Amino acid sequence: MIGEKKVLFSGMQATGNLTLGNYLGALKNWVSLSDEYECFYSVVDMHSITIRQDPAELRKRARNLLTLYIAAGLDPKKNCIYYQSHVSGHAELAWILNCFTYMGELNRMTQFKDKSAKHADNINAGLFTYPVLMAADILLYQADVVPVGIDQMQHLELTRNIAERFNNLYGDVFTVPEPYIGKVGAKIMSLQDPSKKMSKSDENPNGSIYLMDDPDTIMRKCKRAVTDSEACIAYRDEQPGIKNLIDIYSACTGKTPQETVAEFAGKGYGEFKPAVGEAVISVLKPLQDEFARLSKDKAYIDSIIKENAEKASYVSTKTLRKVQRKVGFPDRIR
Ligand code: TRP
Repeated sequence: MIGEKKVLFSGMQATGNLTLGNYLGALKNWVSLSDEYECFYSVVDMHSITIRQDPAELRKRARNLLTLYIAAGLDPKKNCIYYQSHVSGHAELAWILNCFTYMGELNRMTQFKDKSAKHADNINAGLFTYPVLMAADILLYQADVVPVGIDQMQHLELTRNIAERFNNLYGDVFTVPEPYIGKVGAKIMSLQDPSKKMSKSDENPNGSIYLMDDPDTIMRKCKRAVTDSEACIAYRDEQPGIKNLIDIYSACTGKTPQETVAEFAGKGYGEFKPAVGEAVISVLKPLQDEFARLSKDKAYIDSIIKENAEKASYVSTKTLRKVQRKVGFPDRIR
């Protein structure tokens, strides 16, 4: 707890181009949670270097992502929006937690297995201990809740195990975090293969709508979305392409899938697909305009980066000092 509020922590990597799926599935929910919780939203740039990055590109993307958090509606005076790499406590706590995490546990992480298969030429130790850094992110702020996608649940479960293990040895040091699972319907699938999640690393750019796609591109991608030959707009698993478009339309307009189905009853795909395109544009265009405006205000963004790194450092240092004392590091002489 900080003051009256429970603490929420989440983070995103600045790699790849963010998609509509990232926005509707994560960022939009973050905004809706920001009144209820004391929120820390990090740009987790330290996680990004587990895969080889172009340095200038990473720096640029990190700044863009931080700006995007604000453009999406997260008030940086109320939410702590910061770069992970600006707060040294993440690395320091991660080291300590490494000594409380077993090789066997990390070996079981499916994301490690997937990523090492994909990057067979660079299976570095950081890729292996990635989940421990993530645990450090969360535990440093004594987070009560962590909004994560299903793909990160195993890492969160590990975080809970590490926290409990540490608490059993040293007393109540860490808050054991709970996952926050977003509302249903927010999982957006690829427009070209509705059995796959819409992904920023998809090889087929037509499968994903990127947050910075211009209106013509958005419209073209929606019109080309893979559907079926049923020719009826129904919300059912047998029509995964249409179901996904209904989800997208509903999330963008604030309607329920049932309301969307009712709205398009008796209409064809030729009418529905452009309507989906329009709905997406009506959400992304204002976001893009705000992003462009904020990007030009260098002094403002710089001030946010500085202030919030200081705030994050202050909060995290409290936890870090406690942990350092518990494990037996000598007190600092003041
Ligand atoms: N591993 C997460 C992802 O790739 C990003 C992340 C890093 C994160 N640290 C976190 C998410 C802490 C939630 C909490 O999506």
